[in-house]
Amino acid sequence: MIEFVLNNKLIKTDAHAGMTLLDFIRSEQQLKGTKIGCREGDCGACTVLIGSLNDKKKTHYKSITSCISPLGNAHGKHIVTVEGINLEGKLNTVQTALKNNNATQCGFCTPGFVMSLVGLTLQDNLISKADAIMAISGNICRCTGYKSIEKAAYKIYENIIEIPITNRLSWLVENAFLPDYFLTIPTQLKKIATNIPTHKNGTIVAGGTDLYVRQADNLAASEVHLINQNQKLAGITFYKDRCIIGAETTVNGLYYNTAMLTYFPEIRNYLKLVSSEPIRNMATVVGNFVNASPIGDLTIFFLALNASITLQNESHSLRTILLKDFYKGYKILDFKSDERIVSIAFNVPKVDSKFNFEKVSKRKHLDIASVNSAIQLSVSNNKVDFIYLSLGGVAPIPFYLTATCQFLTGKTLSVEILKEAAQILQQEIQPISDVRGDESYKRLLARQLFYAHFLKLFPRAFQILELVN
Ligand SMILES: Cc1cc2nc3c(=O)[nH]c(=O)nc-3n(C[C@H](O)[C@H](O)[C@H](O)COP(=O)(O)OP(=O)(O)OC[C@H]3O[C@@H](n4cnc5c(N)ncnc54)[C@H](O)[C@@H]3O)c2cc1C
Ligand code: FES
Ligand code: FES
Repeated sequence: MIEFVLNNKLIKTDAHAGMTLLDFIRSEQQLKGTKIGCREGDCGACTVLIGSLNDKKKTHYKSITSCISPLGNAHGKHIVTVEGINLEGKLNTVQTALKNNNATQCGFCTPGFVMSLVGLTLQDNLISKADAIMAISGNICRCTGYKSIEKAAYKIYENIIEIPITNRLSWLVENAFLPDYFLTIPTQLKKIATNIPTHKNGTIVAGGTDLYVRQADNLAASEVHLINQNQKLAGITFYKDRCIIGAETTVNGLYYNTAMLTYFPEIRNYLKLVSSEPIRNMATVVGNFVNASPIGDLTIFFLALNASITLQNESHSLRTILLKDFYKGYKILDFKSDERIVSIAFNVPKVDSKFNFEKVSKRKHLDIASVNSAIQLSVSNNKVDFIYLSLGGVAPIPFYLTATCQFLTGKTLSVEILKEAAQILQQEIQPISDVRGDESYKRLLARQLFYAHFLKLFPRAFQILELVN
């Protein structure tokens, strides 16, 4: 049985764990405020909040798109729809900010924006004003125009930024952001049994952001193995010079991890290019690996870290392989049917090594890459000690540039050497023409991104014109 708190109501249901949370909310609970737009995670009309009792005292909330989230992932959680933030007979402070800034017209997208902005007020890690816009990065409005919505978002941010997170919930209740039942949620959640309703032989579902776009109907009718709530697969740990990432870690799990920020000072700029806030809240890194898309951003990122993955089979035996050896052909993986990935590991970058990630897509945000690339290298006395280089969108698999890396290792960096390496790179890759660009465009992007790494990492040594002429 799936048990969770929906707004202020305890739900106990035998509904199929693989059905979408959106369908359960609208069809089974008749809560029609959560809208259906794209059903692909793109528009944000179906945004709700999911609250987890992480430390047994406090509920941590994040926004998700309910159209691509399995109902079973709600087990033990607090799900908040737009009906759940109503105050008796009056608009709450978030709704008032949207109204006062003329930030709504037809109103279809408005519940989604409201929920994303309520999510902003509950966010533990507010860093800057830009977070207000990031909170609504997954919401599309077709008629109002975004400036008035942005103004409302900034107003809400200014209201809450000075309020410490430890007192924030009671402050939000006192200041008409949230109804007071929110204060009782930790007690309500503690009463729910923690065992996850799941089928060990069903399709493995983590965040569901790949699977549900393609096969929501199948998953609503077949068995699903939900691994999202398995605490043994959670967390990012550091041991000596290794970083170990549990398979349940989401993209935002990386984004907000302060140790990752120390090792990769630009990581938040890279990850902002991956989907939108609600998708990053759900999407796991491992889901990106197993999806095996040749342009998976996280896969390209971790290939350049020479990461390894550890797989566990039914009898609990473990085996560890390099991520680059996981890919055998288009969507063909070194993966046995009884295995699942339990962790990712990589050597943390040493102080003298450099890392960069680049992505080109038709739109800067909320778009899949045409070509993406990552590099990690160490150079001493201008000589390359080691280099790991990956390129997406140029082969049937997320591509590790073995020959180019071999060529560059031990070489003294110069314009001539980089030009020679760029030619080897062109021989290694096999891009095809598709909706994201024709072959020649992708070859051009591959060259430009290769050079972009060196221009960014060694700005004094290289000039763009020297490289491209
Ligand atoms: C609107 C939208 C925007 C997106 N934008 C981007 C983008 O910009 N860049 C990008 O790279 N991707 C993007 N994606 C794709 C997707 O979000 C990512 O690929 C994500 O990382 C998938 O993770 P998940 O946990 O949701 O995977 P799921 O959908 O749960 O699973 C994906 C696959 O992994 C398998 N799996 C999951 N965990 C395990 C495990 N531990 N062991 C074995 N198999 C496992 C599943 O069985 C399934 O085959 C986007 C998706 C959406 C809906
Ligand atoms: S309906 Fe568009 S994101 Fe869910
Ligand atoms: S107000 Fe009409 S879609 Fe946003």
